[in-house]
Amino acid sequence: MATWSAPGKVFLFGEHAVVYGKPAIAMAIKPRVFVTVRKSRNPTRPKSPYINECFRVMGVRGSVYVRSQLQSSSGLGSSAAVTVATLSAINDEFNLGYSREYIAETAFAIEKKVQKGRASPTDTYVSANGGMVLITGESKRRLPPENLHLVVGNTMVPHSTAKMVEQVANLRQHHPTIANPILDAIGELTLAAIREMSNPKELGQYMDMNHALLEALGVGHPASSRLVLAARASGAYGAKITGAGGGGSIIALCPRRAKNRVAGAIEACEGRAIITTIDTDGAREE
Ligand code: MEV
Repeated sequence: MATWSAPGKVFLFGEHAVVYGKPAIAMAIKPRVFVTVRKSRNPTRPKSPYINECFRVMGVRGSVYVRSQLQSSSGLGSSAAVTVATLSAINDEFNLGYSREYIAETAFAIEKKVQKGRASPTDTYVSANGGMVLITGESKRRLPPENLHLVVGNTMVPHSTAKMVEQVANLRQHHPTIANPILDAIGELTLAAIREMSNPKELGQYMDMNHALLEALGVGHPASSRLVLAARASGAYGAKITGAGGGGSIIALCPRRAKNRVAGAIEACEGRAIITTIDTDGAREE
């Protein structure tokens, strides 16, 4: 029997712009998905296309038990975490000897297949490796970890990443002279943020600007606006949509002493709050 876990992730900066080759920063966060795999001739496992695909690709049979601290469809990379943790546990239980890199790449291929062509290589990479990552086009570079105090607010409004990505593509097609400068500005914010990683006040201001630009791209939602405003009003340095938007989750960067207050304000607006910080581990054996 082998139990492995893998973390969720947030985009600190640059979602949507990253689809067009602009730089973005993503970070693994503490909530995790735990997956136990046991060799079995009569496998029992949850009904999940991701898990089924993991066993098909690895060419083995086994039972699975999943425990998740991540809400699905919340924009926190839960399907990537399930896939990475399942592949890692299979790898261990059946002594297959694959590398972390191979697991991340295979997890991405599985996400792409299950999600019919649209998947984020960022989600699987960050879940497998942990830490803070700068993504530019195909390249991914680990950044020095920063102990940022974050509150994640799940709007509980399910969203479709594919739909939101398509919506931005349409805007870009119909109004290139408007949409492209917005995407460029998001990329510039990411670059500016790298220089201010240890200055939370400045970083918070950049998050507010990034949020406004995401709303300008049309990926806002009344529920995420409510949570962002509540987080700012209760003492966050800054707050923004994280991930594809159209519902999903927001993040608020907070002074340590304001975390509980910000989480309370999010819950008072019918969001679900998670107080969290960076997870430097990636996939790990439990
Ligand atoms: C979704 O979590 C983030 C997007 O930038 C899409 C992607 O990076 O693949 C909207």
